[in-house]
Amino acid sequence: MDFKNLISHSKEYGFIYPSSEIYDGLSAVYDYGPYGSELKNNIKQYWWKSMVQMHENIVGIDAAIFMHPKTWKASGHVDAFNDPLVDNKDSKKRYRADQLIEGYAEKIEAKIQKDVDKARERFGDSFDEQMFRATNPRCIERQAEIDKVLKDLAEAMRLGDMEGLGNLIRDLDITDPESGSKNWTEVRQFNLMFNTQLGNIAGEETKLYLRPETAQGIFVNFLNVQKSTRQKIPFGIAQIGKAFRNEIVARQFIFRMREFEQMEMQFFVRPGEEMKWYEYWKETRLKWHLALGTPASKLRFHDHDNLAHYANAAVDIQYDFPFGFRELEGIHSRTDFDLSQHQALSGKKLQYFDPELNENYVPYVVETSIGCDRMFLAMMSESLRQEVVPDADGKESTRDVLKLHPSLAPVKVAVLPLLKNKEELTKAASDVYDKLKTKFLCQYDEKDAIGRRYRRQDAIGTPYCVTIDFDTLENNTVTIRDRDTLEQVRIGIDEVSGFVGEKVDFSNIL
Ligand code: GAP
Repeated sequence: MDFKNLISHSKEYGFIYPSSEIYDGLSAVYDYGPYGSELKNNIKQYWWKSMVQMHENIVGIDAAIFMHPKTWKASGHVDAFNDPLVDNKDSKKRYRADQLIEGYAEKIEAKIQKDVDKARERFGDSFDEQMFRATNPRCIERQAEIDKVLKDLAEAMRLGDMEGLGNLIRDLDITDPESGSKNWTEVRQFNLMFNTQLGNIAGEETKLYLRPETAQGIFVNFLNVQKSTRQKIPFGIAQIGKAFRNEIVARQFIFRMREFEQMEMQFFVRPGEEMKWYEYWKETRLKWHLALGTPASKLRFHDHDNLAHYANAAVDIQYDFPFGFRELEGIHSRTDFDLSQHQALSGKKLQYFDPELNENYVPYVVETSIGCDRMFLAMMSESLRQEVVPDADGKESTRDVLKLHPSLAPVKVAVLPLLKNKEELTKAASDVYDKLKTKFLCQYDEKDAIGRRYRRQDAIGTPYCVTIDFDTLENNTVTIRDRDTLEQVRIGIDEVSGFVGEKVDFSNIL
């Protein structure tokens, strides 16, 4: 389903609404509706269970959003958490300079892809894409241009060279995507942190930031947690919570928001062992995504071209969103940067005594960081389909169906009496619903024809629909319909809870 339809489906079926919509919304801020908040909670549960519950050596915390302002000086966010910003003087539109340049490279890649697709059509099964890209002169030339542009971009970003970025935009003749104008301002740095005041006295001392990442709440609590839980290195601290960034360009729905949620885990290791753990977490996190049924072809690793100020290695797990492969999760080797910085600015030791080595050291850190909202968008993109299916009367109709993994589905089972105006049926259905609702989020629905009720459940991703019909009254059996296969089987009322429970259990994927 295309991206526009995904956005309208999300609103129509109670997954996501624009924030404060009655006032025309607030740019890049969204609210989760009844089914959206269930799906988001289930994503968080899956993450928490797999990280905290399944690892003896990972514990969870819930730190405050506000932190002492020195935290952000120490972490480097006050000085280095900037994006390069450029305005177009004619359209008055604002852009991230690095994204404009990346967009230029993506356009060349699209041209290569066009040639590849044409050649594939011509050569059929014998086509070897790798060989074609390596030998076709036009592809080689275009690839060389992409490599040069990205190399120059990475170098300018590394040096914080705003003039260099401006020159690149001009040299490449990059135009405003909206207006086609080339009338650009100088490129300048823009700090992404939101700030506010503590109490009613204004000034630097009382300036508070809304955290731009949850990780720092973990770093400053490193020793508290280690001592109170007697963890030995290697061990991890996990956290789920809100983060805030004043993004220059926020688009693509919930992909880039100004208020979002992160699920982060910092894994503390011996210095020198960080690359081993970096590889371990890369592999473990990819498996986490695959376990939900996301095809391997839609996930890939992408090494960072520009390392953040704290990292000595960093990779993204990218997902093939409706607008192309983009970052879904980051795995970063953050060295001892954060703990050392906090140690220096606070004057408090943040060291670990390693009983096996009989020495004190500042641990190194490998971080896994995934945006909850991006994971939500990935799951919606992956599972929302439009399908032609047979109707009850033998004809065909189109349905919107959300083929979410059953453990993530907002509503696990719907209970539907075959007819609304037969009290024996509605009474039996209510009894079944009352039994099931203590175990799962269920829905009772008696309005409209049964086919329409199935469609409503398909659209919100309910994996099972239980129908109460006249046979139920005779022999205490019901039909249970599978959302994906449309198969209906008849089982005893007493078996429904076990049947559904087994299918939606997180242990199937943990
Ligand atoms: N602690 C490391 C860190 O914050 P990041 O790559 O800046 O690293 C981690 O962010 C993840 O947070 C990203 O992979 C993405 O899923 C999510 N994320 C970052 N900025 C976001 C935004 N503006 N809107 C939604 N999700 C965002």
